[in-house]
Amino acid sequence: MSRFAVLGSPIAHSLSPVIHQAFAKEAKLSITFEKILTPAGALKQTLDAFKVNGGQGACVTLPLKVEAFELCDHLTLAAKTAKAVNTLFWQAGKLWGDNTDGEGLLGYLQNDLGLVLEGRRILILGAGGATRGILDPLLKAGVQNIVIVNRTLTKAQALCTNPHITAYDYDTFNRSNELPFYLVINATSCSLQDALPPLEPEWVKGAYTVDLAYKQKQETLFQQWANKQGALLAEDGLGMLVWQAALGFKLWHHFLPHVKPVIQQLRQGAFQDADQ
Ligand code: ATR
Repeated sequence: MSRFAVLGSPIAHSLSPVIHQAFAKEAKLSITFEKILTPAGALKQTLDAFKVNGGQGACVTLPLKVEAFELCDHLTLAAKTAKAVNTLFWQAGKLWGDNTDGEGLLGYLQNDLGLVLEGRRILILGAGGATRGILDPLLKAGVQNIVIVNRTLTKAQALCTNPHITAYDYDTFNRSNELPFYLVINATSCSLQDALPPLEPEWVKGAYTVDLAYKQKQETLFQQWANKQGALLAEDGLGMLVWQAALGFKLWHHFLPHVKPVIQQLRQGAFQDADQ
């Protein structure tokens, strides 16, 4: 039986094992998929032990995505661009790192939500790792402009490596004459702290919105707020999570599973018992 794992800290509530087992069922594959608690600084040691014991691939989550990037022998273009890795595998003894987060978001937005990104104006809140991972895929999808708004302006400015990207702090942005946006992406860690980014409501009114964070059984604070302000749609990050896992599964098993049934089952809490 082939052996896979998700590494991170905290890891107890990771949905990766149940998602990958659901995909394996569809692909008629028999796999094991463990959660391995791995604190920052312990990735190499944990991966080495995992490989010696038959591990074939792993995904990494907080706080290890940059550590994984630094550890790999080889990186895919997506990982190089994002400067972060979420999917690992060995080939000819060498450690490879990929990043499926950005493509996962695109898969969800375009295939499941039916959004058309070409020529659109996109607003991104936050300038951390989550934003870094989605900029390039959004540009490749043909968006017209990306505006990044962040509390710390210099972090947003550092991501303006393309004439189609501009940066603001919240105060200046809220008072700006920017035109309305088609899609607003909350890539801050606010929802994890039950906080809201200091954005004026007018920017989400009439826009599609996605919070990259999720709470399996309830809407995030940003979703609730966006709905109240008249957003066209207020989604969370669960769809992106399942999509990025599906792309990782394809990398390991050369089989792209269906994501919609798994997203639906997760929303209904169908896997809850299996995950405890
Ligand atoms: P990572 O790189 O792992 O994504 P991070 O660098 O801490 O983590 O990024 C979190 C993002 O959420 C940052 O853009 C952060 O803003 P700052 O760069 O100014 O710190 C943003 N963020 C976190 N809490 C916030 C809050 N209460 N209001 C607005 N933005 C917030």
